[in-house]
Amino acid sequence: MISKKFIAANWKMNKTIAQSNEFVSDCICKNQDLKCDVLICPTSLSIPTIIDKCHSLGIYVGAQNCHWENSGAFTGEISAPMLADAGVDYVILGHSERRIYFGETDEIISKKVDNALKNKLKIILCVGETQERRDCGKASQTVINQVKTTLDIVQKSDIKNVIIAYEPVWAIGTGKTIVPSDADKMCDDIKTFVTSKYGSECTQDFRVLYGGSINSQNAKSFLDLPSIDGALIGGASLEAKEFLKIINIAENY
Ligand code: PGA
Repeated sequence: MISKKFIAANWKMNKTIAQSNEFVSDCICKNQDLKCDVLICPTSLSIPTIIDKCHSLGIYVGAQNCHWENSGAFTGEISAPMLADAGVDYVILGHSERRIYFGETDEIISKKVDNALKNKLKIILCVGETQERRDCGKASQTVINQVKTTLDIVQKSDIKNVIIAYEPVWAIGTGKTIVPSDADKMCDDIKTFVTSKYGSECTQDFRVLYGGSINSQNAKSFLDLPSIDGALIGGASLEAKEFLKIINIAENY
């Protein structure tokens, strides 16, 4: 079991190149020896500017999406080999904003996961239920089904390159948070499913993050729980001081 927590920033469609650079410089000044894993996912445009600085500090860099094909006539898209060539470590796939605004289904996400893994990228796979599914008592069924479908083609040898982020759709960017023990239970259910699919020898280091309105005030109540290995943070990751506070909390485990 991994004890180091994993803190990931999802900047979404925010920050110019200059702003991204400034944020990383602030992190570099204030954090020399990180005691937790940190990932920053800026827009693809900012990746080349910050990647060397991040890597020199031991911070991973991720993209927020990629296509399922390596190249071709897909206007506006970016492919996994392009990200790998740029030195990217992780790619977020299946975020609920991609599912809602860009029509991504579990089947599409599964193809993206497959191609990204073939290109040696690590995956942050996002899953989560809507308010409606939670209200009708189907939260766990929905989430496990998403995990099952999107991991369908992932081989035993590759599961070590996948992190799952449990993000209830209704908690993203809304300021509403789930009761931490409910999030812990869902993360535990995900681990149980993944372990039953791949075997405990392959999943000892498997991590599940929680995401949805995490900030420096509530981070500890989630990170304290045994099945929550870290956090995927949107809004609260945009300001260096606030993000550093969360990192400092995560360094205490
Ligand atoms: P939030 O976003 O922290 O702003 O709720 C989380 C996410 O979308 O990953």
